[in-house]
Amino acid sequence: MRFSSIAVSLALASSAIAAPSKPKPNDDCDDSLYKSMKKAGRSFIGTALTIRTNETREQEIVKADFNSFTPENAMKWESTEPSRNNFTFEDADRYAAYAKKNKLQIHCHNFVWHSQLPAWVSNGGFDNKTLIAIMENHIKTLATRYKDVCTRWDVVNEALNDNGTYRSSVWYDTIGDAFLPIAFRFANKYVSKNTELFYNDYNLEYNSNKTAGAARIVKLIKSYGVRINGVGYQAHLTSEATSSSPSPTPDQKTLETALRATSDLGVDVVYTEVDVRMNTPSTPAKLKVQADAFERIAKSCIAVKRCIGMTVWGISDKYSWIPGVFPSEGAALLWDDKYVKKPAYSGFLKGIESRNN
Ligand SMILES: *[C@@H]1O[C@H](CO)[C@@H](O)[C@H](O)[C@H]1NC(C)=O
Ligand SMILES: *[C@@H]1O[C@H](CO)[C@@H](O)[C@H](O)[C@H]1NC(C)=O
Ligand SMILES: *[C@@H]1O[C@H](CO)[C@@H](O)[C@H](O)[C@H]1NC(C)=O
Ligand SMILES: *[C@@H]1O[C@H](CO)[C@@H](O)[C@H](O)[C@H]1NC(C)=O
Ligand SMILES: *[C@@H]1O[C@H](CO)[C@@H](O)[C@H](O)[C@H]1NC(C)=O
Repeated sequence: MRFSSIAVSLALASSAIAAPSKPKPNDDCDDSLYKSMKKAGRSFIGTALTIRTNETREQEIVKADFNSFTPENAMKWESTEPSRNNFTFEDADRYAAYAKKNKLQIHCHNFVWHSQLPAWVSNGGFDNKTLIAIMENHIKTLATRYKDVCTRWDVVNEALNDNGTYRSSVWYDTIGDAFLPIAFRFANKYVSKNTELFYNDYNLEYNSNKTAGAARIVKLIKSYGVRINGVGYQAHLTSEATSSSPSPTPDQKTLETALRATSDLGVDVVYTEVDVRMNTPSTPAKLKVQADAFERIAKSCIAVKRCIGMTVWGISDKYSWIPGVFPSEGAALLWDDKYVKKPAYSGFLKGIESRNN
């Protein structure tokens, strides 16, 4: 999925955060995603976040339902080091401040990726040694600056092809598969000891060849004696066959098997970018099918001991990346475009609470 490379960097409004408003009667405390997740003994429920100060409902929802977020674009290489050793932190700093102010975890995203990578890196023609030095300088600068706010870091993002082989990129083509342990070694050197280091990729949820590739990566990094704490399963899924994806969200057992393929190696697993899209417009029947898919996803996490949390890729369908990338698809999130909870919200919550059933 190439959406992230097309993701529009939405202009951020001022850093002022809307004042908290009184919770509505139906936003009762038990009805909270992250509180239920904590009751299940896990760490977090997060959302991808683009701070929009004019959307006060969004601010209320973050407070009520989430204890973690992933900055959608602000920490990516093109945003933070647009030219060599010229770091631009205005946007990323705003997210760090937002996390501190609202006492939220940040899933920091990301250090090393082939996409949203400026041309000065990808087309620079650097030799192995120089490229590794560029990588270290980038990781060092970000890791140090956000040392006290990053709960987790995606150290390497999307290094695999769908058939499980390594993707061709400036990193792999120049350094070889050693770029993975090298990136994790630098990350470990500069982040806080409490920050968890993740490998993150998509289609790991049902493509067993790619899942095996992720397991190979965990073993490779460990074979270098380097710390890796977890694997992120993006989980950009569908509730029905669409032209962008013929295979809808698999059954719970398949999802659990995929999570265990890496968690059995002694690392944590998380769903990092969950959304479940459909052919639009939605209908009540389709929304029910979607709710069941969200429930299965949450249940699979709760069933796997080392699944420590889940992040959904946005709050309201109003701002989802999907229609812009896959026309006539969307309605993929837990709140509709008016910020009303969808059946998917109840399904997701039910899945989180499945341990108590
Ligand atoms: C907030 O701003 C965005 C972008 O300018 C706009 O699309 C959206 O409708 C605004 N939301 C509200 C509630 O005014
Ligand atoms: C650093 O990057 C920014 C954003 O691209 C640019 O406006 C600025 O001129 C650059 N500064 C230097 C010293 O290259
Ligand atoms: C795996 O996929 C990549 C990218 O599509 C392709 O270049 C490569 O030849 C494939 N390898 C095998 C063994 O199928
Ligand atoms: C690049 O250098 C690293 C670190 O010395 C090494 O592990 C890796 O194998 C080298 N890659 C190539 C293609 O020579
Ligand atoms: C995995 O790869 C094998 C051999 O290339 C192929 O036959 C099989 O269809 C692939 N499985 C999946 C789930 O893609």
